[in-house]
Amino acid sequence: MHSRPLKPEPAPFTAPESSQQSLRGNALSPIVTDVRGRVEGLENLPLTVTFDALVLDARLRQSLVTVRSLGRRGHSVAAVESFNNVPAFSSRWCRQGFVCPADEGSAAYLAHLEQLLRRIDARVLIPSADGTIELLRRHRARLEQRVRIALANEPALNIAVNKERTLAVAKGLGLNVPRSLVVKTAGEVPAALKEIGLPAVVKPAESWLCCEQHGSRVNAQVVTTLEEARRAVAEVAPFGGVTLFQPLLSGRREAVSFLYANGEMYARFAQWAKRTRPQLGGESVLRQSVPVPPDIGDQAERLVREIDLEGYSEVEFRRDSAGTPYLMEINPRLSASVEIAVRSGVDFPCLLYQWASGGPIDKVEGYRTGGWMRYLTGDLMTTITALQQRGRPEVTPPVRAVLGFAHSFFMPMGYDYLDWTDPLPAVKATTDFMRSSVRAVMNGKLSSLREKPS
Ligand SMILES: Nc1ncnc2c1ncn2[C@@H]1O[C@H](COP(=O)(O)OP(=O)(O)O)[C@@H](O)[C@H]1O
Ligand SMILES: [Mg+2]
Repeated sequence: MHSRPLKPEPAPFTAPESSQQSLRGNALSPIVTDVRGRVEGLENLPLTVTFDALVLDARLRQSLVTVRSLGRRGHSVAAVESFNNVPAFSSRWCRQGFVCPADEGSAAYLAHLEQLLRRIDARVLIPSADGTIELLRRHRARLEQRVRIALANEPALNIAVNKERTLAVAKGLGLNVPRSLVVKTAGEVPAALKEIGLPAVVKPAESWLCCEQHGSRVNAQVVTTLEEARRAVAEVAPFGGVTLFQPLLSGRREAVSFLYANGEMYARFAQWAKRTRPQLGGESVLRQSVPVPPDIGDQAERLVREIDLEGYSEVEFRRDSAGTPYLMEINPRLSASVEIAVRSGVDFPCLLYQWASGGPIDKVEGYRTGGWMRYLTGDLMTTITALQQRGRPEVTPPVRAVLGFAHSFFMPMGYDYLDWTDPLPAVKATTDFMRSSVRAVMNGKLSSLREKPS
């Protein structure tokens, strides 16, 4: 496949000429947040609308980054979410926003989406939420008759979305994996704790759990007592899922991301997360781009090649107190943190689009390191949680948490959502957060802003 190097500088934050023209021609305002084009109201939509990409799960940070990345390069992009008013709909690069009014991962959502796909002509579908991915995978053969889906092939995904299977493949390759016990029922908990010890990490083998009626995402958590461990297992059991019990590692959280296709690595990128939400680990709220560490870089790449995991993937590791890296999991979809890669010169959403659309893929030879990015709302919530959950393992002591939060304002830093050439999504995200916080305080429900113990 043809490849050419990307420019070392990130794409400038200006609209390519072609896109400015088409936006001008499209409507009076370049901000076409036309959620009037609700899926129920599709009869209002001209039949000829064509989009290069339909970005699903528009509420997610990585979806906004995708809309901007593709839009800046002149692609026509529309976004979809199950509710109105998400920041990505306000982006100048979002030609149209569609609301599919149904729960994530539900049959009703699929029905809306298919109705939409019959009315518009979309080239590539880009999902990022675990529930949406699960749903698309189940109906993949039918959907792919209409649209290309930016997901790896089924055998690869089958391994990557399941931690038990991922760790087994990794172990076979000689990677360090945390000691993991599979626990299916609360009755097995005491024996598992006897072997793993306390505190332990309990996590579902697959983060998206679904039964007939609904689905839900369950996070990894630290348990400090038998009772907490039982509760963690009970959360997963109704969905028929299994949990993994692991010893708690205490070192740095690092991740390596790739764009891989046809046996070739088109881009590599690494970051470490200084603060995450939940605090044990999850989405990173304060992160830095770093050179790919040779140990985990090599391990992650071997794993991706072994699974033949094409497209974008992020391989997560955590080190122990001695610095030895252990594999956590693979995310075979754009990560919430992906903007730091884009700002550092690796435009993963664009590479993903190139791959999924079957075109030539740019090859990225390097990127800038040392840059920081912060998700301010998430960082604020993490700090509040640190005060509420003080004393628990993995929770930063209150004074250090508050000082760390304040100190980050004095560091050169990029902020999620904030892009001076596309300001409306940040305004929207900020006003939404203020509104929900005020409402929570007025209702005396600050606890509704809290997270589950991590
Ligand atoms: N055994 C463990 N010890 C220490 N931290 C862990 C452990 N397992 C998970 N974590 C932390 O929690 C994060 C989330 O766990 P992960 O396995 O990635 O599941 P998910 O992201 O699906 O919730 C990891 O990135 C890591 O930072
Ligand atoms: Mg993870």
